[in-house]
Amino acid sequence: MNHAIPLVIAHRGASGEAPENTIGAFRLGLEQGCGGFELDVHLSKDGEIVVIHDFTVDRTTDGQGAVKDMLLSELRELDAGKWFSDAFSGERIPTLKEVFELSPPELMINVEMKGGIGSGLEEALAELLRQSNRLDTVIVSSFDYKGLANLKRIESSVKIGLLYDLRMAYHWKLPAVAGCEVYSLHPGLRRLDAEDVKAAIEQGLSVFPWTVNEEEKLLQAISYGVNGIITDYPGRLRTILKSK
Ligand code: G3P
Ligand code: CA
Repeated sequence: MNHAIPLVIAHRGASGEAPENTIGAFRLGLEQGCGGFELDVHLSKDGEIVVIHDFTVDRTTDGQGAVKDMLLSELRELDAGKWFSDAFSGERIPTLKEVFELSPPELMINVEMKGGIGSGLEEALAELLRQSNRLDTVIVSSFDYKGLANLKRIESSVKIGLLYDLRMAYHWKLPAVAGCEVYSLHPGLRRLDAEDVKAAIEQGLSVFPWTVNEEEKLLQAISYGVNGIITDYPGRLRTILKSK
């Protein structure tokens, strides 16, 4: 998965223009021509992998409570679109399996492990990736490197991405910190550095910065030669790339 021009990765779907981590946001990303999704996962009380960013449903639904304390059936009752705009009323919290089902087989999907790490998420994710035939196209990322190393132990062919947003040099040395084979580095935009990108790519790693939205920053990331750009506005990035 090396890309001559950076892959356009829709952050939580096209979340600048649709409610994050919903089917509507992922569909809009596809309509705008994205080549990848970034999304966040948690484990429900009954062990389903659900796509939502926060540890609670409070901000992005009309409900309240911790995701891990709710059954899938309870999560499904919530409206995950109305908070964004009435036009998206009726959107539901999707399962990861549903997002896989709507995604073209070649689409890159960056699954960020958030909730449930060490409580069954790694096992459930490995199983779903195998069943869905998504081991080639999915990159699993996290700020929790122990969770990633555990996932890699469970399923050795999974691609691992390291998220970071720390003020430190030599980011390309992070794989040694993770203690497992690493596929990609995912720097926060304020940590994106041209020399780091060059060194990482020379070492055989891919680089996917986040969350890059402003035109000036998108142009900067493109000029650094990153492999993909995680953005809330995939349509905007596509327009820039087409004009080059
Ligand atoms: O995966 C990149 C980015 O999504 C990490 O931060 O808070 O948006 O999940 P956050
Ligand atoms: Ca994320």
